[in-house]
Amino acid sequence: MCDLHADLPPLSDDEYVLDIPRVRGFVSAVRACIERADSPAGACELISPLFAGLLADRDWLPPAFQEPAADSGMGGGIGQWLAFRAADRSLSLFSLVVPPGAKTPVHDHLAWGIVGVYRGNQDEEFYRPLDVRGLELVRRRPLDPGDFYTLVPPRDDVHRVRTTSEQTSVSIHLLANDTGCIWRHTFDEETGAASPFRSGYVNAACEADQGA
Ligand SMILES: [Fe+2]
Repeated sequence: MCDLHADLPPLSDDEYVLDIPRVRGFVSAVRACIERADSPAGACELISPLFAGLLADRDWLPPAFQEPAADSGMGGGIGQWLAFRAADRSLSLFSLVVPPGAKTPVHDHLAWGIVGVYRGNQDEEFYRPLDVRGLELVRRRPLDPGDFYTLVPPRDDVHRVRTTSEQTSVSIHLLANDTGCIWRHTFDEETGAASPFRSGYVNAACEADQGA
């Protein structure tokens, strides 16, 4: 797999692009879970009830964070809206807005995390890059609002999000890095070849290009 420049310089402070008590309270509770956990899988388990509550709460995510984005790094009009990221880049919370019929490229995250559906329907598709050539579809599952799943590398890190509903889908992503700004990978569906990829955010900046 191609080498990436994964390290990002720290920010001067935590960045709450969506600066509301609901997000601050969630992040604070998540950090307490991470402190108590002895592994990424353990952190996901402790965070799960909090995450379920966030998905069930219809009041905190503004309409602007549920809008597609015409010229996004993901392509297909897919919007990636940052709500929060940690100063040390160890945590981010964002929404991913995928129009009907659109799908992300197959991609990795290079961090553990939790992903769940807030609105509409999506399929989760997990892949395993093969040693010689190609990708193996490990599992595909339809998701309703409120459903969520964990990403725990290296086993569950490569996936794709596809909207299956007639309405735009919105999913919430909590990742243990600054996912929009790190250089990671997309994977060619036919060959499995990895390419450097940085998705960016619609509403937050990343450092000058340093990965390609
Ligand atoms: Fe993803």
